[in-house]
Amino acid sequence: MPESELTIAEQCFIHPPPRKGTFNTFKWDQSQKLHGDDVLPMGVADTDFPLCPVVKARFVEILDSYPFCVYQSAELDDRAYEAVSKWFGKHHGLKFERSRMRLLCSVCNCFVATVLSYTEVGDSVALCMPTYFCFKPHVERHGRVPLEIPLILDEDGRYCFDFPTIEELFAKDYALGAEKKIKLLVLCSPNNPTGTVWTCAELRKLDELCFKYDVHVIADEVHAPIVREGVEFVPFLSISPKCRHTWVSSPSKTWNMCSAQSAVVQCDTDDSVLKFGETLKLLATWGSNILGRMMLTAAYEVGESYRQELIKHIWKNMEIFCSKMESMGFVCPVPDSTFVVWCDGSVINEIITKKRKELKEGEEDTLPPLFEFQSVLDHARILSTSGPCFSWKDDCVRFNLATPMYNILEAIKRIEAVWGDIFL
Ligand SMILES: Cc1ncc(COP(=O)(O)O)c(C=O)c1O
Repeated sequence: MPESELTIAEQCFIHPPPRKGTFNTFKWDQSQKLHGDDVLPMGVADTDFPLCPVVKARFVEILDSYPFCVYQSAELDDRAYEAVSKWFGKHHGLKFERSRMRLLCSVCNCFVATVLSYTEVGDSVALCMPTYFCFKPHVERHGRVPLEIPLILDEDGRYCFDFPTIEELFAKDYALGAEKKIKLLVLCSPNNPTGTVWTCAELRKLDELCFKYDVHVIADEVHAPIVREGVEFVPFLSISPKCRHTWVSSPSKTWNMCSAQSAVVQCDTDDSVLKFGETLKLLATWGSNILGRMMLTAAYEVGESYRQELIKHIWKNMEIFCSKMESMGFVCPVPDSTFVVWCDGSVINEIITKKRKELKEGEEDTLPPLFEFQSVLDHARILSTSGPCFSWKDDCVRFNLATPMYNILEAIKRIEAVWGDIFL
């Protein structure tokens, strides 16, 4: 069937073009070069889906209509502003302050600029772990100190902020007066890797603490457009935060355009935009490149049906993968957001240890040896992102499920072959 007669879902999510051999990508080309052709990469957080054809066509149209490729201000041009404000207005109910917005090359670019703008060498940056694993090295590379505050599991298995610990740490630090060190808190919303979508009450509480103890928040909402149907995402800006803050988002995850290098930022005051601009000079960067800006504009203008289909596809994958993993003894709840799942194997060892203790004297021990997640995945030839990358225990692993269903079924088959027989 000609490609044009296929639906977006068929072209992009069910039968996408092969990713192998495409511009030396980290996820497939580099991984297979390093680990062998038979590995199944489920680590690096981009998707295995092609650019939405409608977005690509719009991008080409914008490119065709623009005769220059010259120096540009990081401020949003009319068309980009219109596209961004319409999309975020419609889907997240946001109203922006245009003069405080900028386009940058990436979310990490914005993150580093925020760290440099609001902290000094030796200051602490609060990170609620587990969270996106690049935050911590970026903090350390610039001589700041990561203050890791673990999320806690509630009785429903949801990862939540540990507010009493946050407040205790903030209050102690605040009492130091001029010697205060905790200047910035990173809000990863929704949270990668746990997929937690923060509630309005949680965001208000966080805002209240950061306001009271004078801690700047960077709200990274790059995963916000990928939320399970029926779950309400609450943007940090929508609670009208009282604390100092920087907001950032990007089409890179949803529309799989990470290498297009574009992110949209809003600073909280006119002064902070100026300060932010000075920091960008230090980083020798002005803003996003022009092609990234065009792709961002195209995605927000015409990418909505692709996003809707993406969500359907991802949650089909999630349901199948998570239920299989749970049937093999893992704790692997279907997340509310992102395209990754956070899978906890620690309970398996608890079960094995308990059963071993219950063996009667003389009874044959046919139980499996203690479980090691990484060893199971090594045998299954699956690449994933392990717990320690997120400063977490090694019996937790993050899997990227933004891939055609045949890869999900292959992953399950491989894990079952190595582990299922032993455990089931
Ligand atoms: C929460 C979060 N922020 C930022 C990034 C990186 O975004 P960028 O490539 O725009 O720097 C990622 C990538 O996985 C992420 O998960």
